[in-house]
Amino acid sequence: MNKAEAKNFRSCLKPMPDILVSCRNNKGEVNALAVGYAGNCSYDPPMVMVGIVPSRYSYHMIKETGEFVVNLVPESLREKYAYLGSTSRRDEDKLVKAGMNYKEGVKVKAPILLDCPVNIECKVVDSIMTGSHEMFIGKVEYIHADEDLLDDNGNIDYSKIDLLKFR
Ligand SMILES: Cc1cc2nc3c(=O)[nH]c(=O)nc-3n(C[C@H](O)[C@H](O)[C@H](O)COP(=O)(O)O)c2cc1C
Repeated sequence: MNKAEAKNFRSCLKPMPDILVSCRNNKGEVNALAVGYAGNCSYDPPMVMVGIVPSRYSYHMIKETGEFVVNLVPESLREKYAYLGSTSRRDEDKLVKAGMNYKEGVKVKAPILLDCPVNIECKVVDSIMTGSHEMFIGKVEYIHADEDLLDDNGNIDYSKIDLLKFR
């Protein structure tokens, strides 16, 4: 196969995950947004990173508290994902409007989204402004998983989750 230069450098690494990042600010407002710029960045200690554009309402919530939750999204939440990824908490209380069930985390005050099969509670340990996004490095503090996904050793069987592939 011959190669030629690809010139569109926007989001060239695929596939991107489709996760919901949930957060809470010091006023007690809760929120979630769709995030594709995300990934693992350490397994010892476990760390993940999420990239948030500074114009997002969630950006200021995470900056303020240094906490967020990464929620893995099942295909069944496709419509809600599209809504949470296109409307801002600046304009409406998205979690209420979308009818999302949530409760406070164990180690963080940010909400875990109960309709998502895996929820990863994180505390920000560092961040870097890469360009369009600020990459928040989150130390994993606690992981929730639906009981039927877990084996006796607490391992998650990811093959049982019908993960959303949004695009
Ligand atoms: C598939 C998809 C991926 C997205 N990825 C990101 C992302 O990685 N970072 C980001 O800041 N916004 C991303 N967005 C956009 C935000 O989810 C969107 O602007 C959202 O409405 C912001 O909500 P907020 O203002 O309540 O925080 C994505 C949206 C979609 C639909």
